[in-house]
Amino acid sequence: MCPRHAGAWNMLTAAVCMALLGCLQAQELQGHVSVILLGATGDLARKYLWQGLFQLYLEEAGKGHSFRFHGTALTSTKQGQEVIAKVLESLSCPRDTAPGRCAELKAQFQQLSEYRRLKTPEDYLALSKDIEARVQHEGLQEVGRIFYFSVPPFAYAEIARSISSSCRPGPGAWLRVVLEKPFGHDHRSAQQLAAELGSFFQEEEMYRVDHYLGKQVVAQILPFRDQNRKALDGLWNRHHVERVEIIMKETVDAEGRTSFYEEYGVIGDVLQNHLTEILMLVAMELPLNLSSSEAVLEHKLQAFRALRGLQRGSAVVGQYQAYRGQVRRELQKPDSFHSLTPTFAGVLVHIDNLRWEGVPFILMSGKALDERVGYVRILFKDQAYCAQSEKRWVPAQSHCLPQQIIFYIGHGELGGPAVLVSRNLFRPSLPSASWKEVEGQPGLRLFGRPLSDYYAYSPVREQDAYSILISRIFHRRKDSFITMENLLASWVFWTPLLDSLAHEVPRLYPGGAENGHLLDFEFSGSHLSFSQPPLEQLVLGPDSAPMPSDFQVLRAKYRGSPLISAWPEELIARLAGDIEAAAVQAVKRFGKFHLALSGGSSPVALFQQLAMGHYGFPWAHTHLWLVDERCVPLWDPESNFQGLQAHLLQHVRVPYYNVHPMPVHRRQRLCAEEDQGAQAYAEEISTLVTNSSFDLVLLGMGTDGHTASLFPQSPVGLDGKQLVVLTTSPSSPHRRMSLSLPVINRAHKVAVLVMGRMKREIAMLVSRVGREPRKWPISGVLPDSGQLVWYMDYDAFLG
Ligand code: BG6
Repeated sequence: MCPRHAGAWNMLTAAVCMALLGCLQAQELQGHVSVILLGATGDLARKYLWQGLFQLYLEEAGKGHSFRFHGTALTSTKQGQEVIAKVLESLSCPRDTAPGRCAELKAQFQQLSEYRRLKTPEDYLALSKDIEARVQHEGLQEVGRIFYFSVPPFAYAEIARSISSSCRPGPGAWLRVVLEKPFGHDHRSAQQLAAELGSFFQEEEMYRVDHYLGKQVVAQILPFRDQNRKALDGLWNRHHVERVEIIMKETVDAEGRTSFYEEYGVIGDVLQNHLTEILMLVAMELPLNLSSSEAVLEHKLQAFRALRGLQRGSAVVGQYQAYRGQVRRELQKPDSFHSLTPTFAGVLVHIDNLRWEGVPFILMSGKALDERVGYVRILFKDQAYCAQSEKRWVPAQSHCLPQQIIFYIGHGELGGPAVLVSRNLFRPSLPSASWKEVEGQPGLRLFGRPLSDYYAYSPVREQDAYSILISRIFHRRKDSFITMENLLASWVFWTPLLDSLAHEVPRLYPGGAENGHLLDFEFSGSHLSFSQPPLEQLVLGPDSAPMPSDFQVLRAKYRGSPLISAWPEELIARLAGDIEAAAVQAVKRFGKFHLALSGGSSPVALFQQLAMGHYGFPWAHTHLWLVDERCVPLWDPESNFQGLQAHLLQHVRVPYYNVHPMPVHRRQRLCAEEDQGAQAYAEEISTLVTNSSFDLVLLGMGTDGHTASLFPQSPVGLDGKQLVVLTTSPSSPHRRMSLSLPVINRAHKVAVLVMGRMKREIAMLVSRVGREPRKWPISGVLPDSGQLVWYMDYDAFLG
């Protein structure tokens, strides 16, 4: 504000005081807060943020704070002032405010708001000085500054530097910076951005916005769970929940935003943030005290840790047909340009903890769909049999009607936010001051049932997400924002899926109602697939990869032993089938099956396949051994046993005493020679496994020709009497424990699984060499009297 307006400012302050505080009961002014809105003339600011700031002013000014709102941008002062003036004019008051009163409040807010161009570090310094001068002049005390970054992320670093160096408030006052997504497009870029911002701000100063956390219904999920603990305690778990659907469907497409969309796609734009946050609110353990932000955030992180890793088969992706053309037009790409960016994705998520194990969480979002709607639907298992005939079922009593809880985020048939609970579940409790029962809408059906089948509540006053979040920033409710740990945990979860989809051709869909059932999908185990064949196949370029159907499972010889080669999925299915057959046969003949398994990434898919698809496997009679182990504690993520535990053991019923981890961690030490771990394992083998001959040993092959943890030039384990040895790996963790070649070669059957293009070269080399275990330990694998079978995928075998 210019000096000649200072007098007017004083009068206005007094007027505000009169109007809002009724002066006589006025509280002491708690302090002055400056809000600096960066990008104040942009889309988001014009649509939501100014309104949110006005709301903040209405709620808080009467409680003893004074405010000043600085809209800033790179736009010239004159132009900026014009835009802001228009926006301020269009602000709306709460519905019950009388028109005269509303005009008064708006005028007050307009007086407290200004536009200034903010570009150089000097501009920031000048702003800081102005704030200090004003505060001093008014005899106020500055309590804090909020900087709202409504600017593209590429501008973050420079602005952050200027704020940090020239515009921090003085001692005793707080700084809050508010950041809008995207926060990176994968784990690495998110880490970089976090590190960059971390060099300017403390974590507690940063408020990363996910506007879905401000949506009324989303913000109500935890309070709802809390207020209905008694009813939900027994229900909110794998024994009762059939599935959870977290859905955000949009009718709009990405036109006008394709440069952004090409980088993020629907997964980076919506699933990684909005839908994942909602997933966490549904799945996390409920803290005892919801008012503690720290407790909420900690519980959320724990839920992140329990997410099962996603595979390529965990998702289906699509792209609306017009997208390609929009990208070509907007990004000036040639006609031959094909984008693989998904505009639609359905993802199946599992959570490996006691509460949720086995419950499918379906996350789905897409552009150009048939309707705009967002909801979370928790469908409960139908565990009742109703003896009465259906025509006598009463919605509030019959346990044979569907039981569901729906957090209806908005739009859709209902047209607004609501919380719905099937009447045959329980009557929910919601705060009556802010939630009211939805009035009946005859004929309206939701999720297969008439609205009258539900207890349905909607907010007394609908509020925009940004208004809610701005208030929460002011009140330091950090749990409504994304912490750095939270953000990185989410990217750790999504990045492998994004990587595995990088070359996947999304299914084309026409858009809108014409999509028909084209995007319906279904799941089996951890695998998701479209329910219907595609309408139209993309014509692949001349250099595109062959499709799985182009090949049969190949049978041939490799190093004189049988070779089975196929695409990864078929290969794994075949290997799992062969292992099951060997197990069934061994148990039939000897009453038990001794299986020694390798670690690493290749067997993960095998473990999952065995865990999810082999119900005839005689697990109760199976002994599980480790082929090798890294010298780390068993709970370390790098431990082979940990991989086995995560992907297999926790899903099958192997008796505890049949599981034989390698003793790498004894007397608080890792693989110390004097602790004799290798000897102890060898003894265990000799005692339990007849002739120390495993029924089946599963090996892999490293790019240097190592197998188990027997590396080229290993001084031990390639021959001699030792069954188990300590070895050294060229890569970290260096110390290992491994079965020796002699004990491997005593096995009845050895399967070597080789997958991925990276193995192509070594596979070629090893196919030509003789038996030279010192150079290539894998070449020493040749069972004395058992059978060796090679399982190679086409990438490894054909390149
Ligand atoms: C944004 C996404 O975060 O959320 C957009 O970038 C999406 O692609 C939007 O359209 C949806 O938000 P809302 O509030 O309209 O449901």
